[in-house]
Amino acid sequence: MASNAPVGVFDSGVGGLSVLREIRQLLPHESLLYVADSGHVPYGEKSAEYIRERSRTIAEFLLGQGAKALVLACNTATVAAVAELRERYPTLPLVGMEPAVKPAAAATRSGLVGVLATTGTLKSAKFAALLDRFAGDVRVITQPCPGLVECVEAGELDSAATRELLRGYVEPLLAEGCDTLILGCTHYPFLKPLLRELVPASVSLIDTGAAVARQLQRLLEREQLLADGPAEPTRYWSSGEPERMRRVLPLLLGDEAEVRAF
Ligand code: DGL
Repeated sequence: MASNAPVGVFDSGVGGLSVLREIRQLLPHESLLYVADSGHVPYGEKSAEYIRERSRTIAEFLLGQGAKALVLACNTATVAAVAELRERYPTLPLVGMEPAVKPAAAATRSGLVGVLATTGTLKSAKFAALLDRFAGDVRVITQPCPGLVECVEAGELDSAATRELLRGYVEPLLAEGCDTLILGCTHYPFLKPLLRELVPASVSLIDTGAAVARQLQRLLEREQLLADGPAEPTRYWSSGEPERMRRVLPLLLGDEAEVRAF
């Protein structure tokens, strides 16, 4: 596999772009392919089998486009599908992601951490195992957030409706005394500016995009697959309405680019 081959990144929708921007920042020589499965969003309310099937289809597509590595830029797809994809492609550099329980448990001073994530992530065995392993004495309060993903998909990052929805999810966590909030879904970092207005400055907001980019760097280094550039422009596909994604790209990423139908 050539080191200048692209890295394939995918999510249930545009949320994984919050991971893609971290990859770009850390690894500017890497060419990137991105699939938004927006025709099937949200994954958070779907069965694990459904998500596995979608993940297989998208992984095959990205590998067919010549990807040298894959990033599941989606917590929900990771809990459902990463094990199967690792089995299917044992030698492929593959990075999944999970809510940042370990760094949050290290950061909290109140001993109370809130997790904002999808229903699928929070009810998974993988998430339960993550808590067992890393929460220690810290009390972790989970908050599923139906509807937030749709706000980000629509590019509604600061509308009154998005603000009210987010306020309803965050206020109970603050009332319990959480001083650290984990953004356990890749769509949510796009709501950080709004979230910052809703929570005191003393509350830490933690997400995993940068850690995923570092893990990708480690795997590519290990396989001697780091690109020496220059990177090709990122290529985008959407299984939803490509035109809608084209419209939100400048808002989410500062990119003007063509989006193809997937
Ligand atoms: N962005 C995804 C995640 O990180 C899931 C959103 C969804 O489709 O429900 O969990």
